[in-house]
Amino acid sequence: MSSVNQQSIKEAAAYIREQNGVQPEVGLILGSGLGVLAELIQDPVSIPYTDIPHFPVSTVEGHEGELLLGTIHNRPVVMMKGRFHMYEGYGPEVTAFPVRVMKELGVKSLLVTNAAGGINTSFEPGDLMLISDHLNMTGTSPLIGPNDPELGVRFPDMSQAYSRKLRQLAKEVAVSQSVVLREGVYAGLLGPTYETPAEIVMLRTLGADAVGMSTVSEVIVARHAGLEVLGISCISNMAAGILDQPLSHDEVMETAEKVREKFLALVLAIIPKM
Ligand code: 6GU
Repeated sequence: MSSVNQQSIKEAAAYIREQNGVQPEVGLILGSGLGVLAELIQDPVSIPYTDIPHFPVSTVEGHEGELLLGTIHNRPVVMMKGRFHMYEGYGPEVTAFPVRVMKELGVKSLLVTNAAGGINTSFEPGDLMLISDHLNMTGTSPLIGPNDPELGVRFPDMSQAYSRKLRQLAKEVAVSQSVVLREGVYAGLLGPTYETPAEIVMLRTLGADAVGMSTVSEVIVARHAGLEVLGISCISNMAAGILDQPLSHDEVMETAEKVREKFLALVLAIIPKM
């Protein structure tokens, strides 16, 4: 099932190390609308995914498919510009492969962001939500198959999937910037359809505050690898059945565009402190 093994992780990491001098400490996986953060990386080295051994290749995001290494406020980072989604046909272990490579490169903490639909009716489009926890609703896991003890334990603890310490840090930075930061549970689904109104009622009943199509497999692999995780969702729209209007990807992108500046400022201030 899984083509992920230590050999391929090591070969990918070795190739990346050959291309640049900085050893990254923080990994970044940024969702819709935050790709511009790439422009704020100092002395960036760009490595197209197609050049990295064993790296999956992006199908839908056109030119978005490069790994960037450099520094942000003197903090060495590695950033994925373009991520892999299960709705593209990748298995969960493939979508999370870059996280394993980040770990191999020396990364200690991971910041993941995404655009998500609001399920909590007190949310509004444009809100930012600190992810306190997630519901893995993909029906699968990137860790299925034989476990390689070099990569992590067979039964990883998920009781603090999203680091309490990093969440506290995010809250403090938000306060210092007078940015309202909501907090809630992210439900990760396969997609690519948005949910039905009945599914949104189900997810709300189960404790979800927001819903999206990414993040959970990346975070599962990050925890397996012992990385500390911080997650922030941009509530780009309300989920189905809350407002009397259809959902569209255009709305998602429009909202992401509108909140980009406050989102960027928040993330930029958090990174050097992670
Ligand atoms: Cl409403 N659902 C899902 N699954 N992903 C989303 C979304 C909704 N809004 C933005 N991304």
